[in-house]
Amino acid sequence: MEQTEAMKQFETIFGEPAEDLFTAAGRINVIGEHVDYCGGKVFPAALNLRCNVYGKKRGGNKIRMAFRGIDGIVEIETDKLDSYKNLKIGNYQAGVAYYLQEEGVEIVGCDLYYDCTVPFGSGLSSSAAIEVATAVTLCEYAGVAYDKVKLALLSQKAENKYAGVNCGIMDQFASAMGKKDHAVLLDCSTLEYEYVPLQLGDYCLVVANCNKPHNLVESKYNVRRQEVETALKTIQTALEVQCLAEVTPQQFNEVKYLLSGVVAKRAEHVVMECDRVHKAVEALKNGDIGELGRLLNESHYSLRDLYEVTGKELDTLSALARKENDCLGSRMIGAGFGGCTISIVKKTAVEGFIRRVGKAYHDAIGYKASFYETSIEDGITVEKL
Ligand code: GLA
Repeated sequence: MEQTEAMKQFETIFGEPAEDLFTAAGRINVIGEHVDYCGGKVFPAALNLRCNVYGKKRGGNKIRMAFRGIDGIVEIETDKLDSYKNLKIGNYQAGVAYYLQEEGVEIVGCDLYYDCTVPFGSGLSSSAAIEVATAVTLCEYAGVAYDKVKLALLSQKAENKYAGVNCGIMDQFASAMGKKDHAVLLDCSTLEYEYVPLQLGDYCLVVANCNKPHNLVESKYNVRRQEVETALKTIQTALEVQCLAEVTPQQFNEVKYLLSGVVAKRAEHVVMECDRVHKAVEALKNGDIGELGRLLNESHYSLRDLYEVTGKELDTLSALARKENDCLGSRMIGAGFGGCTISIVKKTAVEGFIRRVGKAYHDAIGYKASFYETSIEDGITVEKL
C-alpha cells in the first residue's frame, strides 16, 4: 500500500510504522431532526468524511494518541480510565475505553494517530465518528468479537455520561451501521432499521458548512431535551404514550391546549417532523424528489420557528440555496446553532450553485461557507496496512 501522509506522520511520531487502519464515518441526516431522543425515526447516511485511526498494538497499559494538525501526544493509562473526563482532546476516546473496560473488554496499550476528516463542530458528527472508530480499534486490539449496534450504544453512553452531552443514538448508529449509497431508516425507540437506496435521479445532495464559530451547542442541546421531556410528561396526563414520537398530528391537536410557550412549540416540531420522515421516505421510494425537497424545506422552517435551533447563518445559507432554480430543497442538519446544511441540487448545476450561493453567503454574513465533496459510504471499515 502506498504510504499516506498520515502513515508517515505515525512513523515520525511513534518511531515505527502503523499496522492497521480503522475508520468510522461522519454522517448527514436526510430528515428526522431532533427526534431521535423522542423515540422517533431518523434517516441518516454515512459519509466519506471519516475518523481514520492508524494504529499499532503495543501492549502495556498506555494508549498514546496523536492527532492530525495538533502537536504533541496525549497519553491515557488503562488503569485510570475514569480520570480523563476533563481532557480537551482525548476525552471521547477515554470514555469509550472506560465503558468497554466496564463491560469486561481488556484494554490493550497501543499507539494511535487520529486523522479525522469530518470537520469539527460541523453537525456532521465528528464526535460519533471518533467514538465509534475508537471502539472498533480497542475491540480489535483486545481480540474480542463485537456487534456494531452494541458499539454504537456504548459510544453514545460515553458521549452522554463521560463527555456530558445528552445526545440520542442517531449519530453513533449511522457512524457504525451506515451502508454505501443507502440511508438508514432507524426507529430510535426499538433500534429496528431498514436500508433505503439514496437514489436521487438527476439530483444529488450538496453539503455546506455555514462555518459559524462553535458556541455553547452542548448546553443549548441539553436544554431542548429537557423541554421535550416536560412536554411528554404533560401529554402523558391525557394520552397513553411512551414517547413524543408516538403522538400523531391529530392527537397532538387534541392535547396541545395542555402545553404553552416554548414547550408547546418544541413538541409540535417533534410530532410534525416524525410525520415528515414517513412522507419523505415514501417520496424517495417513489422517486418523487420534488416532494422530498419540499419536506426538507418544511423541516428547516420547523427547526427555525418551532425548535429554534437554526440561527441567521444556517437560515441564510439554506434560503440562498432555495432561491436557486435547480435546488429542490435545503435544510440544516444535526444539532444546529451552526454547522451544515444539505441541499438537493441538479447534478449538472452543482458548480454554479456552489459559486453563487457561496458568494451571496459571503456577502451577507461576512465570512465564507465551505462546500464538501461527499459520497455515501459504509460506516465502519477495518484494514491491515
Ligand atoms: C446531534 C445529536 C443527535 C441528534 C441530532 C439532532 O447530532 O448527537 O443524537 O439528536 O443532534 O437530530
